[in-house]
Amino acid sequence: MEAARRRTNLLAGHITTGNEHLILETADVAAPSGNLVLTQVKDGVALLTLNSPPVNALSPQLLQALEKAYTEAANNSSVKAIVITGKGKFCGGADITSFSTDAKATEASNLRTHNFFNTMESGSKPVVAAIDGFALGGGLELAMSTHARVITPTTSLGLPELNLGIIPGYGGTQRLPRLVGVQKAVEMILKSAPVKAKEALDIELVDAVVPREQLLQEAGKKALELSAKPESLRRSLRLEDKIDKETALQILGFASKQVSKIAKNVPHPKAALAAIQEGIENGPERGLERERKEILKMMGTPTTQALISFFFATKSTTKVPGVTDKGLKPRDIKTAAVIGGGTMGSGIITALIFSGITTYLKEINQKFLDQGVERVKANVFSRVKKGKMTEEAANKTLSLLKPTLNYDGWKSVDIVIEAALEDIPLKQKIFAELEGVTGPHTILASNTSTINIETIGEKTKSSDRIIGTHFFSPAHVMPLLEIIRTPKNSAQVLVDALGLSAKLRKTPVVVGNCVGFTANRIFAPYSQAAAFLVERGVDPYRIDKAIESFGMPMGPFKMMDLSGVDIGVYVGGIIGNAYPDRTYKSALASTFQKAGRLGQKTKAGMYKYEGRKAVPDPDNIAPLIEATRKANNVTDKIEMTDDEIVQFLMYPVSNESTRVLEEGHVTQASDIDVCAVFGYGYPAYRGGPMKFAEQEGYSKVAAKLNEWHGKYKHPLFKPSNWLLNAAQKK
Ligand SMILES: NC(=O)c1ccc[n+]([C@@H]2O[C@H](COP(=O)([O-])OP(=O)(O)OC[C@H]3O[C@@H](n4cnc5c(N)ncnc54)[C@H](O)[C@@H]3O)[C@@H](O)[C@H]2O)c1
Repeated sequence: MEAARRRTNLLAGHITTGNEHLILETADVAAPSGNLVLTQVKDGVALLTLNSPPVNALSPQLLQALEKAYTEAANNSSVKAIVITGKGKFCGGADITSFSTDAKATEASNLRTHNFFNTMESGSKPVVAAIDGFALGGGLELAMSTHARVITPTTSLGLPELNLGIIPGYGGTQRLPRLVGVQKAVEMILKSAPVKAKEALDIELVDAVVPREQLLQEAGKKALELSAKPESLRRSLRLEDKIDKETALQILGFASKQVSKIAKNVPHPKAALAAIQEGIENGPERGLERERKEILKMMGTPTTQALISFFFATKSTTKVPGVTDKGLKPRDIKTAAVIGGGTMGSGIITALIFSGITTYLKEINQKFLDQGVERVKANVFSRVKKGKMTEEAANKTLSLLKPTLNYDGWKSVDIVIEAALEDIPLKQKIFAELEGVTGPHTILASNTSTINIETIGEKTKSSDRIIGTHFFSPAHVMPLLEIIRTPKNSAQVLVDALGLSAKLRKTPVVVGNCVGFTANRIFAPYSQAAAFLVERGVDPYRIDKAIESFGMPMGPFKMMDLSGVDIGVYVGGIIGNAYPDRTYKSALASTFQKAGRLGQKTKAGMYKYEGRKAVPDPDNIAPLIEATRKANNVTDKIEMTDDEIVQFLMYPVSNESTRVLEEGHVTQASDIDVCAVFGYGYPAYRGGPMKFAEQEGYSKVAAKLNEWHGKYKHPLFKPSNWLLNAAQKK
């Protein structure tokens, strides 16, 4: 029991709620054409090949074609056994584009697939899955319904459905626990974590790992072996050896508690557990029935809609009209240089060298250079400590780092990323120097958070190749890369930047060159609204709690303490000056700055810090809040429920998002959602600030903003024209 508790506790912090990098591979779904399943019969083995490139996404048409091909092979007396494989990668999962909002249609197609998989599994003719690349979601569920799985060494297998707010719907909740045990199945499903070949073999999810060249041959051999011994067919749904009911129920009980804590705002992790539990308690048939019921419930929920919309949002950021539709190919970035090895520079270098890119680091003197190198080393070796990399691989990665105090060799560098201090004259000087020391092809990028990219390049004649590459801290971890374009950029340079982002495995969003760009700009009203409330007597700790319950990883004040109160004052000032018509200028952060409470780095900000633990410090902050009220001549008090607090902070984020869209700084609304989710940890299951406003109802959001605008007489709450128009339409 204790072991089960300990093991299930490992789930803490990892249950998929959607903000993770999505691993379903079904986005690039091609329209079905030609023969969706190819059949070849040779030496008594029918080879059925899924033929719907690029990822053989399981559309209803593909499933029907497979069912037909299977039935024919099963009824063909010259066929002794069947192998199912995929052209290219085996299968990326269900075809999300074919998800229907029609409950009846979903129910019917789900039942049909269940019946087909059950028929295949219970049939007497052996079926073997020959898998290369990946078997994800429905792809793995198909493979688990066969009698054996043969895979290649680079294959990964998983059930990442929770990423989309649904649950495994083609029998995965029943077959996976029976194949690999309840503990591992719960972990794989709740974390949406795929397993690689070696682990898949260890946990007996697959039967053999063979070289790619031998895949079909070995799978065919296995299928014929099974046909010689039909009594030895392993039917996943009938396996019992890894199911101990009592232990299984304990594991599910603990997992359910974790889910209630970690993923309390979303229904799907609980639904997945319920389906597993039903199967354990009442047998796999009842489990399958429950799975079908639960997935139907999930399909129409706002969570599923938000997560599916977010999934497509992440896929569409790389399609930029006028840039990516010109047939240009990204030039390969092999060598890079980074200026400044501080917090950001060291993270950016880490990301670059992890991707195999030789990278120079330039600093102002030997001491800072050494410090920069140490930071990169620490980043790389933290992977070794976590067991994710060998020491040898870490040293090899670090050999790509070239520390320097000069520009020798920079003529051949493909991109320079400047991450020096946030200072206009300094950046202008650096870029003027760079123009002279780099080649004409070198992309010159700044990691500035606030400075206009055109201003940075003002002292050069290279504005076509000067862009912003705005990483988020820690740069080697955070998935978002804002690529800031100016009207002077060549399309090729932007295509190259998108190529770099892919190489770094980041999600890029190409955004316009306005102050705060997109992510920081849309969150400026959030901090302002939070300060507005604190100045009017609302407890900052309560605000943080309410916002964390909404799903943000931390409330505005914990975030302020983490990034530094002084940085907040500085960046807030710049953004405030850029948008003076609607900025609420609170004295809160500057009062804390003057008192030396700069956040985590001084062990005290809005909280006090015991190690890294934030502890409320009400007595010590009360006089500072009182001083802020006086400084801003605030005399009134505001009473609000927690739900209203959430609206008070999040509606202004959505409102500013609509302005970014209205001003044309992004290609589409969903780009803003990607910036918010991957840059700020906005809960993906709420879709992002644009989707959230849509789901809340534009008229409700506009009405609330209007109400506060009237009541508090501050333009921070004035709804944008875009929002007012949208509110009228709906
Ligand atoms: N810290 C963040 O969360 C964050 C996030 C996104 C963007 N940014 C931006 O990234 C940039 C760097 O921020 P940071 O937090 O890493 O700052 P930092 O102070 O940690 O590091 C800056 C480094 O640049 C070096 N430097 C200064 N002038 C230089 C020069 N002429 N040549 C070479 N090196 C020089 C300094 O010695 C220092 O090591 C800033 O423009 C900042 O606005 C910061």
